[in-house]
Order: sequence, then C-alpha cells, then structure tokens
Amino acid sequence: MKKERFILDTDPGIDDALTILYALASPEVKMEAITIVNGNCPMEQGTINALSVLELMKTTHIPVAKGMARPLLLPVINAEVTHGKTGLGYAELPAPMIKPDPRHAVELIRDLVLQDPGELNIVAIGPLTNIAMTVRLYPEIVGAVKHIYIMGGAINHCGNMTPQAEFNIYCDPHAAHVVFHSGIPFTLVPLDVTYQVLLTGSDLLKIEECNTPISDFIVKSSRYVMEYLSESQEVMGCALNDPLALAAMFQPDLLTMQHLVIDVDPNEGVSMGKTFADFYNYDKKKENGFAALDVQARLFVERFLERMTYISQ
Ligand code: BDR
Ligand code: CA
Repeated sequence: MKKERFILDTDPGIDDALTILYALASPEVKMEAITIVNGNCPMEQGTINALSVLELMKTTHIPVAKGMARPLLLPVINAEVTHGKTGLGYAELPAPMIKPDPRHAVELIRDLVLQDPGELNIVAIGPLTNIAMTVRLYPEIVGAVKHIYIMGGAINHCGNMTPQAEFNIYCDPHAAHVVFHSGIPFTLVPLDVTYQVLLTGSDLLKIEECNTPISDFIVKSSRYVMEYLSESQEVMGCALNDPLALAAMFQPDLLTMQHLVIDVDPNEGVSMGKTFADFYNYDKKKENGFAALDVQARLFVERFLERMTYISQ
C-alpha cells in the first residue's frame, strides 16, 4: 500500500493531539514532521505538547519544528477557555525529554517539500500563519506541495469564534487569504462537517476501559472540550475537527466535496475571518479549492474510536 505522506502543521490543542494519535494509529499515512504555530495555545506551549504526545506514543523520531509565534498582522489570540491552561484539557503529560528540530517550521516545510516535489501533503489544523509564511518566503513550494488539507472555516455554518468566523481562520485571516490564493490545491474541512463528528460520553467510556496511559490521555483531554462545548454551544460531544481534516486525506469516502471558488474576508469588521464559497460563480473565476460540505459522521467516529481503542491497549 502506498502511504499518503504529510507534514502536520498544528497548534496543539486537544483535537490536534488526537490528530497526532490518529495519524500514528493509521497505517495508510506517514507523518514526516510536525510544525507548530500559535493558536489554541502559545507556540512554545504547543511545541511542548506535541513533543510530550510523541513521547507518550514512543514515536520520538518524528521532527517537531517551532514556527510562527504570532499571526501575520493581528495580535495573538489563544483558546485557553476551550483547551485549558496547557492546551491539553485535564490531561497532564510529563515534560518532554526530546528537543525540537533546530530548523524553523518554514525551513523544515521547504526542505521536506522540495526534497520530494509532488509527493508531500500538508495537513494544516491550526491558523495558517506557517503555511502563508512559507509560500511568501519560498514561492517555489507552490508547485511542489501535493495538496493541503485545512481544518478551518464555516461555509454554510455559523462560526465558533464570532457569529461568522471559525477559530483557525479568525486567528489569522490574512494568512488564510494568502493560502487560498497561492495556487496550491487545497481541501477545506469546515465546521459544516466537523461539528457533526462528535465523540460522545459513551464513546469515552469504551476508551476508558482500556485503562492505560494513552486511554487516560484521550479521556482526560476530550472530556475538557466536551464540557466546554456543551456549556457554551449546546454541542453534545467532543467535536473531532482536526482528526476529520486528516481523514479527508486518506478516507475521502467519508466526505461529500464540492470544487468551488473559496475565499475569506480578511478585513476588520463583523465578518472578519468569514470563509465563503461562490456557489453560483458570480465572479466567473476558476475554482481554487474543494470544500467538504457533508460527512458520514457516525461512520467516521466509529473508525476513529476503533483506532483509539487499538492504540490504547
Ligand atoms: C479549530 O480551532 C481549534 O480550537 C481546534 O483545534 C480546531 O483546529 C476548530 O475551530
Ligand atoms: Ca487545531
């Protein structure tokens, strides 16, 4: 089986950490590196989290590079209320022994992509600052990245940060604008689908039965976001936003995609960070990306659960 190879660009983050686990549990993919960006937590804390999760999984050979500690233009935003003080909810992991790669995230992305043109995907599950910076500094990556799978945006769905904007895109709408218009083929996995894939309380009980450090981590981290979403948005479960973006790369049968003209409003105002698709192609532009607009939700959660249980034994 030919594996889908990819770089994970992330702001770990509870569902980001679950994505690392999902990748390591999936023989169909090979995660070549992890690059960190400011988002759910400050970039330094996100780096610690990624390293600790890799240590938990005993997969310390995967390089982790620090990236952008703030958005291109806007001030820093973090999501302590959703992901907790350290970014990993109620979970507590030992401080990591392994160190980050000496390269900056943008250099690591450039090196890996240009080493194997056309072979490497990027799965971007945080604000798009690192990817936009790489595009600007090293435009030669544009024709060399195979595809970018982006968790972000809300097309026909309300926002989770403002009434119109989703968190990752809202944090750095200018970066999203650069990436959407870069010419790199991309798939957007927005809240329209990610808010349908909910890990429920009874799912967590199944994982809890494994009673290992890995199951303990999954349960304690997910429970935090579950409580937050039920209290603040009446969403009854832990939304698997980021793992679904990874699934879009190797389990596309789960999603209904549409090839569209996709854009974002980067301007300050009530719709800053709003993503939208020109369904009628009013502007007669060429489609620039795919948007996932429907999902076989429970099927995905079952697949996810199966793999989480497997790695927890
Ligand atoms: C996105 O924002 C973050 O809180 C999550 O990790 C996910 O990437 C959902 O809006
Ligand atoms: Ca994320």
